[in-house]
Amino acid sequence: MPQFPERWLEELKAKSDIVSILGKFMYLQRKGNKYWACCPFHNEKTASFVVNADDQYYHCFGCHKSGNVITFLMEHERMTYPEAVEYLAKEARMEIPESDDPEFTARKVKLDKLVAVNRAAAKYYYSNLSCPEAQSAIAYMDKRNLRNDIRVSFGLGYSIDGDGLIKTLTAQGFAKETMISAGLVNEDGYDPLAKRLIIPIINAKGQVVGFGGRTLQKDVKPKYRNTKGTPIFDKRKNLYNINLFKRTQADEKHSSVILTEGYMDVISLYQSGLHNVVASMGTSLTIEQCNELRKYVPRVYVCYDGDAAGQMATWRSLDMLSSVGLEVKVMSLPDGMDPDDTVNKLGIEGFNKLMAEALPLTEFKIRSLASRQDRSTLDGREKFALSTVKVLAELEPISRDVYVKLVSELSGLSTDSILSSIDKFLSGEALEKPAVVKPKQTEVSSINLQMCRFVLASMVELKDYVTLSDLKEELFENEVHKAVYKYIIDRIEAKIRPKKGDLYDLALEDKSEIDAIIASLDAVPFDKQGEHFAQYMKKLTQSAKQAEIDKVLEEIKTATPEQQVILKQQLLKLLNK
Ligand code: UTP
Ligand code: MN
Repeated sequence: MPQFPERWLEELKAKSDIVSILGKFMYLQRKGNKYWACCPFHNEKTASFVVNADDQYYHCFGCHKSGNVITFLMEHERMTYPEAVEYLAKEARMEIPESDDPEFTARKVKLDKLVAVNRAAAKYYYSNLSCPEAQSAIAYMDKRNLRNDIRVSFGLGYSIDGDGLIKTLTAQGFAKETMISAGLVNEDGYDPLAKRLIIPIINAKGQVVGFGGRTLQKDVKPKYRNTKGTPIFDKRKNLYNINLFKRTQADEKHSSVILTEGYMDVISLYQSGLHNVVASMGTSLTIEQCNELRKYVPRVYVCYDGDAAGQMATWRSLDMLSSVGLEVKVMSLPDGMDPDDTVNKLGIEGFNKLMAEALPLTEFKIRSLASRQDRSTLDGREKFALSTVKVLAELEPISRDVYVKLVSELSGLSTDSILSSIDKFLSGEALEKPAVVKPKQTEVSSINLQMCRFVLASMVELKDYVTLSDLKEELFENEVHKAVYKYIIDRIEAKIRPKKGDLYDLALEDKSEIDAIIASLDAVPFDKQGEHFAQYMKKLTQSAKQAEIDKVLEEIKTATPEQQVILKQQLLKLLNK
């Protein structure tokens, strides 16, 4: 993260108090020098999230998330690292220094240009609507009953012809190269969205980043043509209407979002008064989009076309939404109708009723499995019940109980028989899996790793049982551990108290190791910590020594006779140490 000067960052950190920043996102209750809240990372009713002002870090005793003010913004507000720093700078009223990294500056200039040219293009398309040539677009919007204020809110426009855009933008001083890299014109200078109704795609910051263009003729394919992905338009992350959703959030305090597939679904629902609506724009949903939604609300109403709801791709999307912690409610629309058709036909009252009837994810899955079988036959009922086993097996015991009852009701089979099928499934699954699952590199928790964590945690807390002179860098093998060690020693030498919160800056990409270090002290009772420390130090020192011995022994194998003499002396020294 080279783009912010270190001294400036130090000053920023000193001015960014974790209590006042986190206090903007949740209610913090003071108890002594600690502040408590209900954890914003998991659902709970009693506070187990503590913010520690001295150490400038937070920790949840329920879900074990912890971090500092930057990781909070990155994880809770889903900001990137530079965004988090910019946010803090704004709060602290500090100017962001000009970057001294030329690559970074050049990139920023380029991105700013792309934003500017998109904005100019949106203005041009919009202004076209007052030209006589745009009559077909006006007629089309009339036919779809789009109110005037809605046309303006969504910035709808029209591309009259293939070369109007390039002419206008050129006259405004934009280079053709910029237009091409923004995806606005093809290599041949032709507007790919010519003769289409234009729908600007605007990101969460309110910047126009691309366009969708709908054909006005019945038989022209594709129905929609969209701007290609560009450095400012990442299709995996973008959600249509996230800008207005976000803008209305402040006044309307949305507690949920309605997720649709299409531009017109969004525009139509918005016109009916539902402002908390976004679209994934036809392609299958990505985890980035799910995370983006989770940033704003805890619940999502999935509102896909009547015929899409039962498809496998839809189930994957639903699981993905649920996996980021969103409560998923699935709406069922009349067959063959999309949200736009539905609200036009049933009105907002009808649509609201469908929302109220939306099913929780598991119930939706079970009911759609039920609808796939003919439950008037014994065979159909059995097939249905068996098909639910996998869904049921994934649930927490309490929810499993609820849904086993539902399957029992729908199939007429006893809850006992369903439960034993689940047990069988779970034990079969256990057999299929290899006995030992190799943990991820970062999760390897050998005894050695755990001892190192405990030692580092004791160091950062400046526990009185810590004797610094015994602590050498060689005791630590793990790169993150080495960095933590160096940080603490530097601080101690500079006579500044090390802060737990600072540790997170050392491993922003993978903070789980820092979490593990900090948590390691809690695992040992207060009065036993000194004893543990002494033991661990002894073992770590021994294994560091052993590692050195092994290394020398290994070297001896391939050394020349003269080298061997020296190595053997070294070995003796080590053994006597
Ligand atoms: P739909 O075909 O459901 O579009 O595709 P829609 O919004 O209901 O459009 P109307 O009502 O016919 O005007 C859903 C979304 O998939 C993307 C668009 O984002 C569209 O809104 N799509 C669809 C494309 O990108 N290209 C296409 O050719 C079709
Ligand atoms: Mn439609």
